[in-house]
Amino acid sequence: NSGAVIFDLDGIVVDTTGLQFLAWRKIANDFGFDFSKDQNEGLKGLSREDCLKQILAWGNIKLSVKDFHKWMDIKNSYYLNYIYEMDASAILPGTLELMDVLQEENIPFALGSASKSGKIVLKQLGIYSRFDAVVDGNDVKNGKPDPEIFLLAANRLGFAPSACVVFEDAVAGVQAANRAGMISIGVGNKGLQKEADFTFNNLTEVTREFLQNFLLFQS
Ligand code: G6P
Ligand code: MG
Repeated sequence: NSGAVIFDLDGIVVDTTGLQFLAWRKIANDFGFDFSKDQNEGLKGLSREDCLKQILAWGNIKLSVKDFHKWMDIKNSYYLNYIYEMDASAILPGTLELMDVLQEENIPFALGSASKSGKIVLKQLGIYSRFDAVVDGNDVKNGKPDPEIFLLAANRLGFAPSACVVFEDAVAGVQAANRAGMISIGVGNKGLQKEADFTFNNLTEVTREFLQNFLLFQS
């Protein structure tokens, strides 16, 4: 075949969006303020560093470099506490079925996540070894909307960017896929309709025929 798939992690493969939100909210609360779910939309897909910068800007807070790193570590310890409680029931509807179809059709797939806990999460869920390549926040310098994560994933899969289809739930992620020159598919977020090439409510809606159209007959 001539195409490949790249999955975002949080909000696509696994239901961790609320957990990331909780961990970041605790950080804001530690600083004495709060932020909304709407504001959280703008954090989705960003690197840990960019998320903290955004939250500090909302709270009008300045930190030394040393304290900045300390708070990134605190966020991560909050988040990992949630993650280690999680099991395979957190895998989102349609994910495993879609992976089965891709394997049957011999379409390789990778993870392309900005989270530095990407590999940990896949291992915790018992699905790490199903991916042909895994790129997470430890492998890159730039978070989304920079295309670096997806370009590295395509490179590790051995496919040209134009032969890759990306599943994303975040605005920054769809922008990263578009900037990488890939087909962008927005999932579970009406706000993605403008920027994504296609949108679905969730992965159960993605059919074998849709994938075959894009991945088996690409030139
Ligand atoms: C992804 C998620 C964000 C999260 C970021 C950093 O982009 O969508 O919600 O803040 O990763 O995650 P990390 O686990 O590295 O702190
Ligand atoms: Mg996401």
